[in-house]
Amino acid sequence: MVKICCIGAGYVGGPTCAVIAYKCPEVKVTIVDINQNRIDQWNSDILPIYEPGLDEIVKATRGRNLFFSTAVDEAIIEADLIFVSVNTPTKKTGMGAGFAADLAYIEAATRRIAKVATSSKIVIEKSTVPCRTAESMRKILDANSRADINFQILSNPEFLAEGTAIEDLFSPDRVLIGCLDTPEGHKAQQTLADVYAHWVPRERIIGMNLWSSELSKLAANAILAQRISSINALSAICEATGADVDEVGFACGLDSRIGPKFLKASVGFGGSCFQKDILNLVYLSESLNLPEVAAYWQQVVIMNEYQKSRFAARVVKKLFNTITNKKIAVLGFAFKKNTGDTRESAAISLIKYFIQENANIHIYDPKVSVEQIEEDLIYPGIATPEQYAKRINIHQDAYSAAQDADAVIIVTEWDEFKTLDYSRVYENMNKPAFIFDGRLILNHKELKAIGFEVEVIGKVIQ
Ligand code: UDX
Ligand code: ADP
Repeated sequence: MVKICCIGAGYVGGPTCAVIAYKCPEVKVTIVDINQNRIDQWNSDILPIYEPGLDEIVKATRGRNLFFSTAVDEAIIEADLIFVSVNTPTKKTGMGAGFAADLAYIEAATRRIAKVATSSKIVIEKSTVPCRTAESMRKILDANSRADINFQILSNPEFLAEGTAIEDLFSPDRVLIGCLDTPEGHKAQQTLADVYAHWVPRERIIGMNLWSSELSKLAANAILAQRISSINALSAICEATGADVDEVGFACGLDSRIGPKFLKASVGFGGSCFQKDILNLVYLSESLNLPEVAAYWQQVVIMNEYQKSRFAARVVKKLFNTITNKKIAVLGFAFKKNTGDTRESAAISLIKYFIQENANIHIYDPKVSVEQIEEDLIYPGIATPEQYAKRINIHQDAYSAAQDADAVIIVTEWDEFKTLDYSRVYENMNKPAFIFDGRLILNHKELKAIGFEVEVIGKVIQ
């Protein structure tokens, strides 16, 4: 029986290895984490992350061939393949602060493997890492392990998007497996390919060189984010000219060379990957003494920041240039629908602007907890504890958040926001009642007919 260990029970490791266990009943999969609380949650009825379809997969496999544990060493010792899917946040201090990925967690996990392993292993980089991280991992493993055991390192980047993780894992566009160009490297690559081949067609399992695989992950995310920043840059032109960004996106997407996806204008992209990976690429470019390349990619992030600040400024301007003590209802706090993840969510940046203008903010999100909102706003200093107590209110439904509000702002594209009874929302708001659609999900003509002042990213509603 092949045994797999996954270090890191987060958004990547959890769903990925749960799906491997589901699709490969004869493989034993143990997901370990140093965070006891997280593991307890994975072993409970309420999983630590919300992802459509995940509950069913975990229920079907937990205790059968899927296990969640904090016994990291035991799981390493018995595994043949070890996925490393720990967090790699952007560094906050020191060299490369604000750009480079913090590899402390990767290094700690790698050192742990080297220290406790008693037999040869295949170690798989799953977390998004800077190009050539595998080289550092190899050095750490070789220098700290027993002489008689051998480690093969593979890069197998994850391309799942949150909210559709299970779908993405069930039918991936491609699975990349990078290895060193040695016979042992190719053998390890084959072993991992055989795991995926349980459910992924062989032609979608792509072998390549380790560094290409690492860079492909950063490149794919940077290109996707660039498309959003491109359409968002055009949305500003649309607002100024009367063009409609949905029509422009649609027209461009019909060109088969461009394609329709990731051309939806929005208040800005969020999530744990896009910004982090681009900044990573910027840092890599600078380290390689390629300042023009660095500036090129950095502009994608600058554009995203601009989109958020531009939207916030539009809210203030439309509300007669002041939102002091006005009530702003923020619908959605997650970085996109169908996830409770709030990392880099546009909601956080918008709320920062609104607090600085002394507005009162009323938030509702179907999947984000009160504790999470508090952590996101107080810990990074978006709101002081006093401002938080005075200005931030969290609601259990959209109607209550919008009660007596001056403006409703759609920040996340949750389906339930499309089907609210907007006449009821309007009745209970201050007049004139403003609605700002930061996600282009509403029927703007209908809202206008109800009586709303309607403001939309990338178009002018007549
Ligand atoms: C992304 C990549 O898609 C995935 O392949 C990678 O493994 C991790 O990063 P994720 O961050 O989960 O996944 O979400 P994604 O669906 O890519 O959306 C990212 C952000 O872009 C969200 O805030 C989303 O709302 C926004 N977005 C997306 C737009 O604003 N417009 C679009 O057209 C598409
Ligand atoms: P991602 O979105 O990349 O999955 P998360 O932060 O959701 O990131 O998950 C990473 C997980 O890795 C966290 O639960 C963290 O506790 C865990 N982790 C970090 N370092 C180690 C380590 N050395 N050993 C085991 N687990 C670790």
